[in-house]
Amino acid sequence: METEMALAIIKPDAVRKRHAGEILSMYEKHPSFKIRGIKLIHMDRKTAEGFYEVHKERPFFEELVSFMMSGPCVVMAIEGKHAVSAHRDFIGATNPAHAQEGTVRKRFGSSIGENAVHGSDSAENGMKEVNYFFDLSDLVDINWAHINA
Ligand code: CMP
Repeated sequence: METEMALAIIKPDAVRKRHAGEILSMYEKHPSFKIRGIKLIHMDRKTAEGFYEVHKERPFFEELVSFMMSGPCVVMAIEGKHAVSAHRDFIGATNPAHAQEGTVRKRFGSSIGENAVHGSDSAENGMKEVNYFFDLSDLVDINWAHINA
């Protein structure tokens, strides 16, 4: 099955800098991404720690959690063919200084921590992460053929 789900987060740095709209527009224009769910949230400690639990032994864990709690962010459920790897290519390297030109992190990230967006790193984690923020029954499947008719 090639169709995958990836979780994308427009992080607090990008929302604070009023870049959420421009970033969202990049997602909207991507030829193979379907935005199946989207919401503006402000994570509390429990939510941020739970989401990044895999990193809890890392030295930057507290910095990461505090940053993700520092303001609102936009979470999105993205569906598409090979969506996880396509999304990782689209957002660019974790460190914006190493990201390719034209990627979201190159355009809007400022450091390894404040890197504008999050992207799931595997198809398995994509489903888990989408489930963490969305009830799968709430996801919308837009019928573009019908809308454009
Ligand atoms: P993200 O894709 O959200 O997944 C884990 C995050 O940890 C990553 O993006 C980075 O923003 C963050 N991260 C990784 N390394 C560091 C670091 N050395 N200092 C602060 N944050 C980091």
